[in-house]
Amino acid sequence: MASVLVTGGAGFIGSHVVEALLARGDEVCILDSLDPFYAVASKEANLARIFERGDARVVRGDLRDASAVAEAAAGVDAVIHLAALAGVRPSIERPADYWDVNLLGTQRVLDAIAGRANVRFVFGSSSSVYGGRETVPFHEDDSVGQPVSPYAATKRAGELCCHAFHVLNGNPVSCLRFFTVYGPRQRPEMAIHKFTRMIENGEAVPMFGDGLSSRDYTYVDDIVAGVLAALDRCGEPAGFRIYNLGGDGTTTLADLVACVGKGLGKEPKIERLPDQPGDVPRTAADVSRAREELGFEPRTAVSEGVPRFVTWYRASRAAGEVE
Ligand SMILES: NC(=O)c1ccc[n+]([C@@H]2O[C@H](COP(=O)([O-])OP(=O)(O)OC[C@H]3O[C@@H](n4cnc5c(N)ncnc54)[C@H](O)[C@@H]3O)[C@@H](O)[C@H]2O)c1
Repeated sequence: MASVLVTGGAGFIGSHVVEALLARGDEVCILDSLDPFYAVASKEANLARIFERGDARVVRGDLRDASAVAEAAAGVDAVIHLAALAGVRPSIERPADYWDVNLLGTQRVLDAIAGRANVRFVFGSSSSVYGGRETVPFHEDDSVGQPVSPYAATKRAGELCCHAFHVLNGNPVSCLRFFTVYGPRQRPEMAIHKFTRMIENGEAVPMFGDGLSSRDYTYVDDIVAGVLAALDRCGEPAGFRIYNLGGDGTTTLADLVACVGKGLGKEPKIERLPDQPGDVPRTAADVSRAREELGFEPRTAVSEGVPRFVTWYRASRAAGEVE
């Protein structure tokens, strides 16, 4: 049994990770500010669901507040650092906030474990670090020096910050590049959640570009399995390691909209719009390193995961928990 700090544990991915840790008997502390980026009530509902399943210590505090972070990190064996301002488009509106939370915040969490070299550190990074790269699939050793949004730049900077910390302090560190994660509790501004809401409401779905941009969508259960494996094997075979965690293939925007429509049993209306700044044309993960070293295996295809999301969405909407 380990004692694990999960930053961002009230959020989408974090709440699933916390539930999985509790289910296998680990002790969990959550550090989360319940940031109002989207409905705070959703995060409170995530915490309430966690308490139904087990007992977690919760520090409601900000990553940038050294005393809150020190309180949360006291006595833990490992940290899974997921708290961040997420999302490409809002980062273009408020880049300074993204740098503040995602970089200074990450450094504060690292500072809180300095001097405790056995504490493992797992960092939630992003496929966006690969920028507008045209050659697919993306491999961890590909060049990542040309991010195309402030969000992507902060995530790459977070990885660099983790690397410097590892070299100076010796802690085992793994950085996980998540490829577009979806599933129950997904953030409401993300594509699958947004499209589901709009098609359900009979609204036209905005389709940016020609609809041929593509993404590697990863079901949240697969991500959670990857996060736990990375936690358990952190430090092997190298003290610092970067892993792609992606799905089992890519889906174009047009096919995704059709898949959501099929799941809802409704014909989507489409509004065509120009490409958005900051968006990348494609993402596709080479997950061979994670497969080999972590035993990672994406198991849920989009054709299976999207209907599961739709079922969750309808039940949550009927319960008044989502819009
Ligand atoms: N969802 C994806 O597709 C995806 C893809 C790549 C990377 N990621 C990364 O995974 C992590 C989790 O993403 P998510 O989709 O679950 O997002 P989320 O917004 O649901 O979760 C982030 C959590 O961090 C908390 N938080 C934000 N600012 C904070 C601060 N200053 N102090 C303390 N807590 C704060 C929020 O309240 C929230 O609960 C993030 O680091 C994100 O960048 C997500």
